[in-house]
Amino acid sequence: MEKLPVFVPHIHVDTLKHLTDALHVGWLGMGATTKEFEERIAAYLDLSDRFVATTNTGTSALHIALLAAGVGSGDEVITPSFNYVADHQAIRMTGADVVMCDIREDNLGIDCEKAEQLISERTKAIIPLHFAGIPCDQDGVYRLAQKYNLRVIEDGCHAFGSSIGGRKIGSYGDITCFSFDPVKIITSIDGGCVVVNSREELEQLHRLRLLGVDKDTTERYKNSRAWDYDVVSEGYRYHLTNIMASVGISQLKRIDEFVNSRRRVCRAYSEAFKDIDGLKVPESDFDGVSPFIYSLRVLGGEREALIEHMRQRDIDVGIHFVPVHRHTYFANARRGDMEVTERVVKQVLTLPLHSNMKPDFVERVIDGVCGFFKVL
Ligand SMILES: Cc1ncc(COP(=O)(O)O)c(C=O)c1O
Repeated sequence: MEKLPVFVPHIHVDTLKHLTDALHVGWLGMGATTKEFEERIAAYLDLSDRFVATTNTGTSALHIALLAAGVGSGDEVITPSFNYVADHQAIRMTGADVVMCDIREDNLGIDCEKAEQLISERTKAIIPLHFAGIPCDQDGVYRLAQKYNLRVIEDGCHAFGSSIGGRKIGSYGDITCFSFDPVKIITSIDGGCVVVNSREELEQLHRLRLLGVDKDTTERYKNSRAWDYDVVSEGYRYHLTNIMASVGISQLKRIDEFVNSRRRVCRAYSEAFKDIDGLKVPESDFDGVSPFIYSLRVLGGEREALIEHMRQRDIDVGIHFVPVHRHTYFANARRGDMEVTERVVKQVLTLPLHSNMKPDFVERVIDGVCGFFKVL
């Protein structure tokens, strides 16, 4: 039987055409296509007075977002342990300390009451995650930020295109980061971006992503170089190339089709599984959600047996996440109680979800899960 992967990138002739056109221009590095991708992201997110800087990964986006927010040595940043380790590594890259917080049962996002208990004099910022594309308690996060004068860096890596109350995540708030890595809703092979509120912060991001050089972005956006530059700050090699941006543009042009098709599959899964006693489906109808993954919870200690059952049917499944406080490198980081996290990480299971997923793949996943619970 054909292997059914958890993730399948949606690469078609349109992507190949964008890619070859970009290669023919003869300017492979950051340039006019990078700029075009940023303009298209801004248009897609409905940005009116916010600014986008692309980066070579979501992790580098988080790193320079933290630096732009003024996070550095001696500071603390609060983020869930139930998150991808990219956030924790990015915090450590700035010299700041990671503080890990528990999550809520309903949306598996940060628990703001528990986060409040972790705030210290050193707390500088908070990184909430919109897990699986489903919004976290964003109001709660911004209330905390206002009360304690904290910066917010929203991790929107799972949520490119998700909205809250009709407004896209990233179109308002403090700072938002996205990822376009190989398995995300849209990919630029690897890539990411940061959205900020001011031109000053945007220019700071431009310097941080390219070795602290002051004039590089302006010139490179014309597919040329400035030779009389100055280096005015710290900086990294985090920029996105024309080639990667061309892939990103081809994907962004089709994002509505991708998101709608993914929502349909999520709804079909939830409909098929919602009455199974041993399962807990996501608490979302997927309206306004741009679903990166479909993660459900397997109750009663049955997860490993279900994984084995799916593997025998050549259906790949995933686990998001191993909680970061369990990793050796982060074991000593300050943290609060992990009551919900500890329970949830034994239950979560990511089922295959693709853009324009083949109907027989969807059927196979549903039959596999229902067969395990003998409700076929
Ligand atoms: C929640 C979260 N944050 C950050 C990242 C990092 O993004 P990237 O892989 O583009 O560096 C990822 C990637 O999987 C992620 O899932």
